[in-house]
Amino acid sequence: MTAFNVRTKSELTGELSGKHIVLGLSGGIAAYKAAELCRAMVKEGATVQVVMTEAAEHFMTKVTMQALSGRQVFGSQWDDTPVNVVGSVNGEGIANNMPHINLTRGADAIVIAPCSADFMAKLLHGRADELLSLMCLARPIAEVPLILAPAMNREMWANPATQRNVAQLKQDGITVLEVGEGDQACGEVGDGRMLEADEILADLIAFFTPKSLLGQKVLITAGPTYEAIDPVRGITNLSSGKMGFAIARAAVEAGADVTLIAGPVSLPTPRGVKRVDVKSAQNMLLASVKYANYATIFIASAAVADWRPANSADHKLKKEGSGTVPQLSFVENPDILATIAQSERGKKGLSGMPDGLFCVGFAAESQDLLANAQAKRIRKGVPLLVGNIGPATFGQDDNALLLVDAKTVKELPEHGHAASKRYLAQQLVADIAARLGHPA
Ligand code: CTP
Repeated sequence: MTAFNVRTKSELTGELSGKHIVLGLSGGIAAYKAAELCRAMVKEGATVQVVMTEAAEHFMTKVTMQALSGRQVFGSQWDDTPVNVVGSVNGEGIANNMPHINLTRGADAIVIAPCSADFMAKLLHGRADELLSLMCLARPIAEVPLILAPAMNREMWANPATQRNVAQLKQDGITVLEVGEGDQACGEVGDGRMLEADEILADLIAFFTPKSLLGQKVLITAGPTYEAIDPVRGITNLSSGKMGFAIARAAVEAGADVTLIAGPVSLPTPRGVKRVDVKSAQNMLLASVKYANYATIFIASAAVADWRPANSADHKLKKEGSGTVPQLSFVENPDILATIAQSERGKKGLSGMPDGLFCVGFAAESQDLLANAQAKRIRKGVPLLVGNIGPATFGQDDNALLLVDAKTVKELPEHGHAASKRYLAQQLVADIAARLGHPA
């Protein structure tokens, strides 16, 4: 475990590094978000080839999309610019003027954002009267997945025709992303908005993640707990919850059904994660025991307060100028991890039985990480314990982990440098999946 803020090489590359995405824009006011999406995908290391319908050009210019993607934007099937089979204009390979064929060859996905109601209807019927729909029809289905980000008025979205189309498109193997809810450009409020660029980006990264936890139900605790002294004061700690939230995101990307029990933190909920907010250790225990019944993996990353005030006052403790200081006494909080790990299913998980609950503990230490982590793993009764240095990680974006099981010790990142919690969470999820027999 050495100095922090040092990135490993694999972290420096973006999360879409090496991916070639064809970004299609159909007509809709949400086209402005496609500009941001294009930029975000490029920033994550993807090459992006933009194709726009004539309708899209009423909302967004080709010049803007060309500048953001760094590539010529195509809009017509009659465009006679030679384009080669990996989508680069005048690049290597045999070029011809068939953009509807060549633009998708070698692509990792076509993303249509915004995808209008009309464009979905066209895709459904296999119509091909302009370049974008023609290109979708002509794509090699087995190699180039099609992902749609619908964008429309709430009535259009709710219309049975649209809902029928969505269901049929999904049956045809097309991925239809969720829609957002809220104020619409037309002034109405409801479902049908296109997701924000960062949400589509997150869905795209998830789309490409190997589904190593498919079928698993993962329960995670994260963040600090808050132990009330009176209605306005309490005791907590510096845990930010970032590690647990990052694990929840990585687990959902790996195909798991994820429940995140969060102490008081202000982090956004990762997409697709079910979040249960709690305050005290006792609340966290109740929620954890309840959801552990349905889980197959339990990851306890929360920094649970070890003690709570013995009596929480019903009313604010007053100073009232008396000069006396309140005397607090404490009682020990329940150990959530030990309670669950030492339940019948937890014990089965420890001995590797298929219907057991696989429990993963964390250890926040300030010294002797390896020895403390090994001792804590045995004391809690878990097959895997993840050690980290508490004062160095609380509130930070970077961390370094030590994975300790009955026989082995493994550093993450591998060569002892610190790495982002995002990267570490992905590695930890892959490690857990491999332990359960599903290597990524
Ligand atoms: N934990 C828990 N409930 C508690 C205390 C800890 O579930 N009341 C869990 C944490 O989420 C973590 C692991 O137990 O997964 C270890 O937590 P840590 O604070 O490092 O250790 P403690 O058990 O509190 O032991 P100590 O204070 O002696 O280091």
